[in-house]
Amino acid sequence: MRLIKCKNPDEVSKEAAKIIAGQMALKPDSTIGFATGSTPVGTYKILIDMYKNGELDFSKITAFNLDEYYPIEHKNDQSYYYFMRDNLFSHVNIDPENCHIPNGEAKDADAECAEYDKLIQEKGGIDLQILGIGQNGHIGFNEPDENLFCATHKTKLTDNTIEANSRFFATKEEVPTHALTMGIGEIMKARRIILLATGKNKQQAVKALLNDYLNTNVPATMLKLHSDVVLICDEDALS
Ligand code: F6R
Repeated sequence: MRLIKCKNPDEVSKEAAKIIAGQMALKPDSTIGFATGSTPVGTYKILIDMYKNGELDFSKITAFNLDEYYPIEHKNDQSYYYFMRDNLFSHVNIDPENCHIPNGEAKDADAECAEYDKLIQEKGGIDLQILGIGQNGHIGFNEPDENLFCATHKTKLTDNTIEANSRFFATKEEVPTHALTMGIGEIMKARRIILLATGKNKQQAVKALLNDYLNTNVPATMLKLHSDVVLICDEDALS
């Protein structure tokens, strides 16, 4: 795992945007795995600016998002469907047909998850996966547990995650209790992975990631088995 140490979140965003832009230049029809949450927002802003300056072209890019609350309507402004349109997709020339997010409105969650994995495989797999990390070490919504799932699946969110994400909702009770998420196996199949971590509240998770052990109670530690992971952290997350 390669570590890029940054001073602050702005530098993290710049480093991440550089890697994503490099991937797009190298392979204009790349398949990119996107994350939501606060951490990648600055990166997405830089990508939007680069597109507006004519430096980036999203027309051949395919996007697969990591996860989505379940159930949730697309029109809910806390859905990841809404988030991605708001923070990236509606500002660049990506083809909406090529934007994939697990469907929070699906009637049959298991069928939706199986279909999602099939689609990723049909598109040739993910070239570059962008990840954030939960305070509890989750990646996607693969929460700490005795066992971790490989495939995309429906999962129950832990109290820690519900608490952390309640900052986006009016009340904690409004945070959905479940989600659809790519499994650890799907994430590990990505050819390249970048993981962004900023802020003191990520210190514990980052420390576990840098220690030399695998632990399903810190799901991100599974990334140690991947041969091309770049960890981009600010000083607060590393200290
Ligand atoms: C989001 C996701 C989550 C977040 C993580 C960190 O799609 O899969 O794993 O990356 O919860 O969230 P923030 O960036 O809000 O601290």
